[in-house]
Amino acid sequence: MLEKEKKCIGIIFGGESNEHYVSISSAKTVFKALISKTNIARFKVKAFYINKHGVWINNNQSLELLKQNSSNETMDNYQIFPKGEINFPNKIEFQGIDIWFPLLHGLNGEDGAIHGLLKFTKKPLVGGGILGSALGMDKVLMKRIFSHLEIPQVNYLTIQNQDLSDDNVLNKVSDDIIEKLKLPVFVKPANSGSSLGISKAKTRSEIIKALQKARGIDSRIVIEEGLNIRELECGIIGNLKLIASEIGEVSYSTDWYDYDSKYSMDNQIIIPADIDSQMSEQIKDIAIRSCRALNIYGFARVDFFLEKISNKIFLNEINTIPGFTSKSMFPMLWNASGLNIDQLVAKLVDISSDL
Ligand SMILES: Nc1ncnc2c1ncn2[C@@H]1O[C@H](COP(=O)(O)OP(=O)(O)O)[C@@H](O)[C@H]1O
Ligand SMILES: [Mg+2]
Repeated sequence: MLEKEKKCIGIIFGGESNEHYVSISSAKTVFKALISKTNIARFKVKAFYINKHGVWINNNQSLELLKQNSSNETMDNYQIFPKGEINFPNKIEFQGIDIWFPLLHGLNGEDGAIHGLLKFTKKPLVGGGILGSALGMDKVLMKRIFSHLEIPQVNYLTIQNQDLSDDNVLNKVSDDIIEKLKLPVFVKPANSGSSLGISKAKTRSEIIKALQKARGIDSRIVIEEGLNIRELECGIIGNLKLIASEIGEVSYSTDWYDYDSKYSMDNQIIIPADIDSQMSEQIKDIAIRSCRALNIYGFARVDFFLEKISNKIFLNEINTIPGFTSKSMFPMLWNASGLNIDQLVAKLVDISSDL
């Protein structure tokens, strides 16, 4: 294939979220796959790095970042912050991209903001659209839609439009939680990621502290009954038709999968998870139904809880731009399902135009 006939893929990575470095690793994995022996004849890449302040860095420098084995310190040279300027893409070459591949985790990425911006270019993108991304990121609306469809979830309450800086309101909300839910509870900001702002609370005073912490990230909050669980995950790809991967299990040595344990080296990924085939089918079915319910397509990772005592499955959440590093669950699940990383990335690009 001639150079000019190759499809030009625009990888967008970095970003202002707390998952900045994970995004860089994800982008490196996808870049390597796009220029692999299998794919180089079909694809060429333009890169768009967004630094931690939201500043878009030009294509050549961004591409260098993907090629280098750069340490986090090297990345720090790119953390310029132009005072007084608006962080809107400035002097960035958007032309010539055939298909976008946004790999921004969390804020401005998974919540649909980047999808909205890219819509102006009228080019397809890998992943879902604005609506599914926003719903997948928002734990309040996601849970309400799942409740409506009777998809199994742990018991929960939601808070919005309440002034939690007022002690009377805080006390009343805490009493309400204790009355309606079994302790311990997990208190979560509606929009966050990597477990940031989430607490496990066993007493009234811990609930108050947990609400104050969550409120620091989002005034909309979800409170869930905390169960004793195993954590199972399933990958989804497709547009018109969604397909589910094998099921994987993540195991960690901490009490729950908090920020530190998510990025610790001690986690173990087990694929396929040690569950029976009936449960595996049930998980795949819920994963597809729940993505359909929120209008999520392209790719996603759907996370489940398996309650140890009852052996019951509960849907936890959907991640619309799952981690794509070489050690991430999503590519590992597809590898176990018959698509190696080069095939997976090519497939995601191919299906992006199948709407
Ligand atoms: N209801 C719950 N019962 C037991 N553990 C929970 C519950 N909710 C969350 N957790 C623990 O907290 C982690 C992070 O919660 P999650 O809702 O997935 O937030 P995030 O979107 O930040 O990943 C989970 O992976 C799990 O270990
Ligand atoms: Mg999670």
